[in-house]
Amino acid sequence: MQSSALETETLPGPLPRGPMNTLLPDSDDTIPPIPRYLSKYYWCFYEHPRAVWVFERRWLVNLILWGKYLTMRDAALSEMGPSLPGRTLQVACVYGDLTTRMAARVPPGSQLDVVDVLPAQLNNLQAKLPESAPVQLLRMNSAMLRIPDALYDRVLLFFLLHEMPREVREATLREALRVAKPGGKLVIVDFAKPVSWHPLKYIWHPVLRVLEPFAPDLWSHPVETWLPESHRDRIVSRTGYFGNFYQKVVIEV
Ligand SMILES: C[S@@+](CC[C@H](N)C(=O)[O-])C[C@H]1O[C@@H](n2cnc3c(N)ncnc32)[C@H](O)[C@@H]1O
Repeated sequence: MQSSALETETLPGPLPRGPMNTLLPDSDDTIPPIPRYLSKYYWCFYEHPRAVWVFERRWLVNLILWGKYLTMRDAALSEMGPSLPGRTLQVACVYGDLTTRMAARVPPGSQLDVVDVLPAQLNNLQAKLPESAPVQLLRMNSAMLRIPDALYDRVLLFFLLHEMPREVREATLREALRVAKPGGKLVIVDFAKPVSWHPLKYIWHPVLRVLEPFAPDLWSHPVETWLPESHRDRIVSRTGYFGNFYQKVVIEV
């Protein structure tokens, strides 16, 4: 792997490739604080010292997604493409093998960057990736990316938006679009409003309300609600899965 934000509390030092050096200021005062919503509602899932040990199991991630982990992972992978030339950004780490599979699709000379605000999650991802993976880990807040405009050919948000309060969700989408190249694409995979007959609707909605208080927003509003006006009519495809329990939305940047 090229570099990591993790060994110390500082951002990565000098990076091997010239252009990437422009990404990160060489200073400690840019370390992002952990957002309050994340510690308040998701501490046990991502920050707890045993969180990775508990959740980094494919069967468990699959169980949490009602048996649809592979479906949604593969939907993301096929939308991103069989080869990922140029620069690709994944906003936020995920449990499971999505990122290692994306990394395997990065051809020589190209790069995958993964942003996350939690060192524990970046460390976990680093441990999952082969040494030589063309992946750079960046400790940043998705709502304030310290990344120049128009750098990435494609950007992925995999089950991230439902965990965020509205203003963070809007800022994250704005930032994802800003750092993507015009003509590139933004791929969003997340919860959606299930069809009216969906049997899980009555069980899951109350559970989500308690455990993931922002997630019901994805049931009541389409994704464009949180997109900047400039991109609300740029949705090129919208696919529902599992009775529209989940969705994949592709936006042309
Ligand atoms: C992608 S989401 C949900 C992933 C899903 N539960 C899974 O593992 O498949 C979880 C990640 O988002 C990260 N995250 C949440 N808010 C963030 C923010 N504002 N900036 C950067 N990373 C964030 C968390 O640290 C965590 O690693």
